[in-house]
Amino acid sequence: MIDARAVVTEIQEMREDGHLSDALLRHAARTLYNSDDRFDWVGIYLLTDDRLELWLHNYFGAPTEHAKIPVGEGVCGKAVAHGANQNVPDVTEFEGYLACSPDVRSELVVLIRAGSEIYGQFDIDSNQADAFENQDEVAIQMVADKLAEQLAHERR
Ligand code: SME
Repeated sequence: MIDARAVVTEIQEMREDGHLSDALLRHAARTLYNSDDRFDWVGIYLLTDDRLELWLHNYFGAPTEHAKIPVGEGVCGKAVAHGANQNVPDVTEFEGYLACSPDVRSELVVLIRAGSEIYGQFDIDSNQADAFENQDEVAIQMVADKLAEQLAHERR
């Protein structure tokens, strides 16, 4: 289980040392990936300025063909279109699911946002069915909110 408070502290320390969002996003994805055996793939997608596509910023796990995802498509695109995190216990039941690897059974998408402004998202895949609990979403949201602070700062 991820220690969200510790990760938030690390990210804040990186900010105080002058690191920009690029380094923070990579650090966060790597830390999440290494924090829990249920997390078989962890990536961060960022929303393009025209808000039409999600572009893969960085990931840990097997390579994916989904480097760019139109808003509205797949679990990732629907999270942005609906402005809501997605916890999908069984990806085979999700209409329009974009398969990354045939081994993936469940998926969690947590938005990186500041209020109504969406910057991107964490996308986490698990090879276990129904792998994600509410406390995972809460923990990952804490990390996402910290990243959003820096993204908002850089885009001012
Ligand atoms: N499964 C995602 C696509 C991204 S890959 O899992 C890395 C989706 O349906 O949006």
